[in-house]
Amino acid sequence: MNVQAVAVVIAAVLGVATLLACTCSFLYSWFIVRPLKLHPSGQRLPPGSVGWPLFGEMREFLQCFKNEKPDQFVKIREKRYGTGGLYTTSMFGVPSIMATTPDMLKFVLKRDDLFGPGWPSLSKIMGPAAVVSVTGELHKTLRRYLFDAIASPEGMVKALPRLDEAMRTNLKEWADQGNVNIRECTRKLTFHVIAANFLNLKPSPELQLMEKDYIGFMIGIRALPLYLPGTAHYTAVNCRRRLSARFQALINHRRSSKEYQGDFLQSLMDARDPDGLPLTDEQLKDNLVALMLAGYESSAYIMMWTLILLAKHPQCLSKLREEHVHIKRRIGESQLTLEDTRDMIYTQMVIDETLRLVNVAPMLFRTVLQDVDFNGYRIPKGWRVMPWLRAPHMDPQYFPQPEKFNPERWNDKNVKSEAFRPFGGGARTCVGNAFARLQVSVFLHHVSVGYKWALLNPDAKIDHLPHPKPVDGGPMFFSALA
Ligand code: HEM
Repeated sequence: MNVQAVAVVIAAVLGVATLLACTCSFLYSWFIVRPLKLHPSGQRLPPGSVGWPLFGEMREFLQCFKNEKPDQFVKIREKRYGTGGLYTTSMFGVPSIMATTPDMLKFVLKRDDLFGPGWPSLSKIMGPAAVVSVTGELHKTLRRYLFDAIASPEGMVKALPRLDEAMRTNLKEWADQGNVNIRECTRKLTFHVIAANFLNLKPSPELQLMEKDYIGFMIGIRALPLYLPGTAHYTAVNCRRRLSARFQALINHRRSSKEYQGDFLQSLMDARDPDGLPLTDEQLKDNLVALMLAGYESSAYIMMWTLILLAKHPQCLSKLREEHVHIKRRIGESQLTLEDTRDMIYTQMVIDETLRLVNVAPMLFRTVLQDVDFNGYRIPKGWRVMPWLRAPHMDPQYFPQPEKFNPERWNDKNVKSEAFRPFGGGARTCVGNAFARLQVSVFLHHVSVGYKWALLNPDAKIDHLPHPKPVDGGPMFFSALA
């Protein structure tokens, strides 16, 4: 067959496949979704639309986020269908219900018996034994182990010296460079923190290889699950395999050497269930991957954004610096303690305000496990529910002038805690919440007492997907305070 004929056959196959997909999607919308909207029992889908066959409302969603107006997507629906807080849509190839008000978010997040883990391909790449993939009792047990390792007071006391050391070393390196790309720098810093606290590893060529695999894994995690050489998914799966092999080598080494390392891995290896059974190697490895993933980008983004926002709001930086200079005078060159972090009142306001405004996790995903009837609406089994965490954060009803960076708003006792959910909620709320706050607090201490910085392109556009970041990575001039 000549090249032309092959091209014609490929085009024909693609054409038929597309036609088939469109027909299926159309039949689905017409015969399943539409009748449900008009269900005689009175239980109807929440207001909204499943959009175009196959593509759903993806185009509209991407447009809002690309035009730097991510909240427009919810506002349009509120205008069209009212402010009930549940809207039918279809995104990422699945018919879905968006939950956007504090009450609706609470309902979805609290009912993990009705709404299960929602990323369809997540367990394949994360591993079936990871905390984000499992449900029920096993989920509870794993969360307890992870909490003890990461976020318990004992876990945090163990983590503090390593955090302190990572901040001092990295910030000094940034100042030596002078001109830095803050996105790259905070990512490297976070990887350093993770390697030190999770695996007791110090910077080395071996760790650099691990970081490379880690980045390959991160890039491919949201890619189309196409296992073909050259695709991001293919790279991610292979990076994941190599990471897993490295974790196995570390686990084996610890068992044979019997050295006590006092890090998160050690804590997970020491955990026992009521029958005295430890986690299996698969569980250990899958959960290390899950933890590294969960703790990497989110924390890096928050540190990056605190620097950007403080550079744009010098009066907030002065207040923050004042708080930390006061602590520094008291402790001198000693390491910070948990007690010291409790004195960081304004710091917590800066962190909360950054979490609210930046919305590192704008929405979550859940799968509907059974038909749910709620507030007169039907949420059908097999659909997806998307708790839209950023909606209340950017609603003037709960946070007046929501676009404004204003840490002082957290002084107001009337701030609605139910409207503020940067770490999710319910049974799957972030296990690393306290650790993330500790990490950012230690970072803000060292950076505010020892350094100054200036944005080289303060008006850079923001790329909101998958997480908000300046498109140029935030070039900055960074130096030690005289
Ligand atoms: C500012 C930083 C962080 C933010 C904004 C954040 C946000 C979140 C959110 C919204 C969830 C809920 C996901 C869902 O319900 O589907 C979550 C889950 C999780 N986070 Fe974080 N996170 C942060 C840092 C961390 C860190 C540092 C760690 C670990 C050291 C961590 C570990 C986890 C884990 C293990 C889960 C899964 C919990 C489960 O499925 O039961 N996170 N995080």
